Amino acid sequence: MSCRIVVLISGSGTNLQALIDNLAVPDSPARIVGVISNKADAYGLQRAGAAGIPFDTLNHRDFIDRESFDRALQQQIDAFQPDLVLLAGFMRILTPGFVTHYRGRLLNIHPSLLPKHKGLQTHQRALDAGDAEHGATVHFVTEELDGGPLILQGRVQITPGQEAASLAAEVQQLEYRLYPLAARWFAAGRLQLNDDRACFDGNPIPPSGLRLEDLESGI
Ligand code: GAR
Repeated sequence: MSCRIVVLISGSGTNLQALIDNLAVPDSPARIVGVISNKADAYGLQRAGAAGIPFDTLNHRDFIDRESFDRALQQQIDAFQPDLVLLAGFMRILTPGFVTHYRGRLLNIHPSLLPKHKGLQTHQRALDAGDAEHGATVHFVTEELDGGPLILQGRVQITPGQEAASLAAEVQQLEYRLYPLAARWFAAGRLQLNDDRACFDGNPIPPSGLRLEDLESGI
């Protein structure tokens, strides 16, 4: 039976599009059964609609606090009966109750080489820090913001004088390879969160995550 995925978004949804395209093939191990946005005008909702995927909006401003929004969000997600929930540019801090409910089946993609540059403005911050490399990370979500066990990282070299926009574009292209790969691994039963350790094929993943370039070069 194929893995049922719900994707949470807040914006343009280019990562959602990459997931849709990658998984919309014969014999796909997973399918996206629902997309939820906390913003009604998120362009990603149009992407979901165009792909024939049911979508919903839940505006956080309609709720008095974070807990009540997250409870309603959880109900909306669970109506889709997901095996896996993917945060794809979902710009909300999640409550411990929500994160605990989806423990081991909630992933995020973050535009930096975690644990560097948690939070926002990651591309400019990598440049300001004088980093030689930058990238993106897929990780299990736990209570610590952008702090859960790392699964997979992809890196790009920063070139002298590079600007944030061009760095962001390079990192985004990486993200479109990283997230579908991790989703496929999960769907195939290859990824687990055991205690606080991410595991791949039953083996603990190093704290810095697997490296896309190692996988591609066959190391
Ligand atoms: C992506 O770059 C993703 O890594 C980032 O938001 C962007 C969403 O783009 N997520 C975060 O910063 C979460 N902390 P998209 O809507 O086009 O997929």
